[in-house]
Amino acid sequence: MAFPPDTSKTTKLERYNSYLRRVNSTKLLAASSKLLFRATLLAALILILFFTLSYPPLSASSHNSPYGSSHRSLLSSALYGGAGSAAVGGASWERQVRQSSTARRPGGMSVLVTGAAGFVGTHCSLALKKRGDGVLGLDNFNSYYDPSLKRARQSLLGKHGVFVVEGDINDAALLAKLFDVVPFTHVLHLAAQAGVRYAMRNPQSYVHSNVAGFVALLETAAKRADPQPSIVWASSSSVYGLNEVNPFSESHRTDRPASLYAATKKAGEEIAHVYNHIYGLSLTGLRFFTVYGPWGRPDMAYFSFTKDILQGKPITVFEAADGDREVARDFTFIDDVVNGCLGALDTAEKSTGTPGGGKKRGPAQLRVYNLGNKSPVPVSRLVAIIEGLLGIKAKKHVVRMPRNGDVPYTHANVSLAQRDFGYRPTTDLASGLRKFVKWYVEYYGIKTPASTASTTSSSAKTRKVGGGGHGIKDSTDTEDTGDSSLSSSA
Ligand SMILES: *[C@@H]1O[C@H](CO)[C@@H](O)[C@H](O)[C@H]1NC(C)=O
Repeated sequence: MAFPPDTSKTTKLERYNSYLRRVNSTKLLAASSKLLFRATLLAALILILFFTLSYPPLSASSHNSPYGSSHRSLLSSALYGGAGSAAVGGASWERQVRQSSTARRPGGMSVLVTGAAGFVGTHCSLALKKRGDGVLGLDNFNSYYDPSLKRARQSLLGKHGVFVVEGDINDAALLAKLFDVVPFTHVLHLAAQAGVRYAMRNPQSYVHSNVAGFVALLETAAKRADPQPSIVWASSSSVYGLNEVNPFSESHRTDRPASLYAATKKAGEEIAHVYNHIYGLSLTGLRFFTVYGPWGRPDMAYFSFTKDILQGKPITVFEAADGDREVARDFTFIDDVVNGCLGALDTAEKSTGTPGGGKKRGPAQLRVYNLGNKSPVPVSRLVAIIEGLLGIKAKKHVVRMPRNGDVPYTHANVSLAQRDFGYRPTTDLASGLRKFVKWYVEYYGIKTPASTASTTSSSAKTRKVGGGGHGIKDSTDTEDTGDSSLSSSA
């Protein structure tokens, strides 16, 4: 016999159960809202921490180290896209990036220029933009030398429609983002830690930029970019190191570097071989010979000589350690180097790899070229030209060249670059330095005896142009007096 179902009991039980469910869900709600509150608080704290680390005035400890400041800009690049611009990844940021990278001529290229706020980077970006190519800049604005000069170059680029993203080449996420937004056809990779003597004080910064940074860029180009870009990058004449056969040819020995700077650039050439071999990246290395000109680098000898002579300070001039030959450099004017860079870009073949890092379809182009001036000039002549242009006699302090990485003599054989892309340097040192000094006195707003003597109208113009707060006293770079001498870097 079956019992009739006790309905009253079941209903009670059901009511009790549903009561329990309600109580539980209210508790759950309370618990989860508490969790939400805690998470919000934590996120706010993390944000505050980020802002604290990102703002320069609050992170003064890392100010003088390019290594430290690149970390700082790595942090800030996650939040900002540069001075006063939209956040990285935002809609307006992407619009700026696309606009800057879009070619304005049929068949024009789209070039990512790293180190765009640097000396060579600025000039190349302007030249590319001027002829109708798309250009996007990338720079970490580190403080190896006066960052205000880099900011001034950035605003010059901005006026000509070149947007510079503030970020580090070691920031793989940023690089991936850039290649996701723009199908760059070419990369002009000029970002690097430069300077020969500074390597003894901050060796890690050379490994960080010139080795790790280069690898980060090549990884993105090989595996993430679609299409794979062709890459032209800055090696250095310093790779010739202890080579004594003159003039330096691309076929000469480069396995005896004399500085860590040179060693990291030589490492770059070997790394380029690897990425060319495995992933089919088209790679062209350019060995620059002492590039100089307007908007140049303050750590270079011609720049610091000019500054010190104007301030009445003594300059240190090196004589070769062996004594029988004067220290000389193959000074190469920036306009000639720009022509060389554009020639290398124009003759760069397409990469042959498969985007995503798959097998290459065939061998890709791998090249290296000297970009020099074919006529080495002794330092004494350099100083004499600057003295003449300024109308001031230099106080010279001649010392033997220390064995700290600089080589006494550089002279380029540029016949390979001439054959392959018509490279033909046309500016002699006197004409090039005239253009540099003209820029220098305008930029820093200086009156020189020479400019006062020539025309009064030109000195009036000088005052007006340079009146933007660029006093020469503000131009102090981070280098000590040991670098106010002949620098052979890039
Ligand atoms: C310059 O280099 C080329 C090869 O690129 C070579 O044929 C030529 O002999 C070199 N010139 C000198 C003066 O060494």
